[in-house]
Amino acid sequence: MNSQYQLSRIMRPDDANIVGNVHGGTILKMIEEAGCIIGTRHCNTQSGDRCVAALARVERTDFLHPMFIGEVAHVSAEISYTSKHSVEVQVNVLSENILTGAKKVTNKAALWYVPFSIKNMDKIVDVPPIEYSSPEVEEEGKKRYESQKMDRFETKERNGELINPVSIPEPYTVGFSQSSLIHLVGPSDCTLLGFVHGGVTMKLMDEVAGIVAVRHCKTNIVTASVDAINFHRKIMKGCVITVSGRMTFTSNKSMEIEVFVDADPLVEAEQGKFRAVTAFFTYISLDKENRPLPVPPLKLEVEDEQKRFEEGKVRYLQNKAKRLADKERQQ
Ligand code: COA
Repeated sequence: MNSQYQLSRIMRPDDANIVGNVHGGTILKMIEEAGCIIGTRHCNTQSGDRCVAALARVERTDFLHPMFIGEVAHVSAEISYTSKHSVEVQVNVLSENILTGAKKVTNKAALWYVPFSIKNMDKIVDVPPIEYSSPEVEEEGKKRYESQKMDRFETKERNGELINPVSIPEPYTVGFSQSSLIHLVGPSDCTLLGFVHGGVTMKLMDEVAGIVAVRHCKTNIVTASVDAINFHRKIMKGCVITVSGRMTFTSNKSMEIEVFVDADPLVEAEQGKFRAVTAFFTYISLDKENRPLPVPPLKLEVEDEQKRFEEGKVRYLQNKAKRLADKERQQ
């Protein structure tokens, strides 16, 4: 059976923060690894060109429970829909405490992959269709496909937006916590076709967003959710990437951080720099017993910050309403 795949791995100290919570980025990287394997495997079940599946989109994902060092992460992936050129992979992550046997679902994610030919990496190849268990299941998949397509057309790439350094920022302002990291893309970050794995990028994004959050509230923080991310362009081996994050919104107990990934193809300089990815991460501040803490309100200094705060508030209220509706449906 090619449409299911499972990977399991014990969580080690370098997967976690200083108090032992596994990073959201570590989990996102595992999710993407499983998705890439199953997506690539599926797309190669045809007789034409061999190909590699590139991550095109991750739907919004919530981190439902914390995972800790010493627990085993079980990541199971399944192909749930295929369009002509894209594959939807649904992934579930379960944490297992191997001392007590306790298991918890920590994440559910949906990812979209697009296959590129090994012979010509600019060529998107056709995806072999899957068989659905019923016409209703296929119809549901089609609805998800159409809905993400619509969402993509409405999403702005925020290409013009920059995060500029601030000389002497005041505590709790946007400038005070904004952060960035620079990374040279090496072979171990890349697929067989030499472009960065989406999971590697998401891990770096979570790292920067986490630094922004901890600089703001100076407590232990954890990733609560990541809004849908579209991966606009491939980042090739040898590029220098700058991952920058700034706080956009604070509620009583959560912080929203906007992250940009900009790529600079040094060797093929004629291609020029470009914005590869943007995303919103939400973090929660925790006390020593892992209970959510109030976060210091964000101090807004200029009109743009006020505007982004208002936009963040809309996303916060929408996500909260959706979470509540999901909870009620499950009861
Ligand atoms: N999410 C989901 N599917 C997407 C998508 C997205 N963000 N963007 C495109 N697609 C799908 C389309 O629906 C289409 O499938 P269909 O014909 O079955 O409907 C298929 O991809 C090709 O679409 P097309 O419009 O021809 O391609 P494009 O020029 O928009 O390129 C990508 C889309 C994803 C191939 C391109 O944006 C890309 O290369 N992104 C980077 C991928 C990558 O490197 N990922 C790791 C990043 S770190």
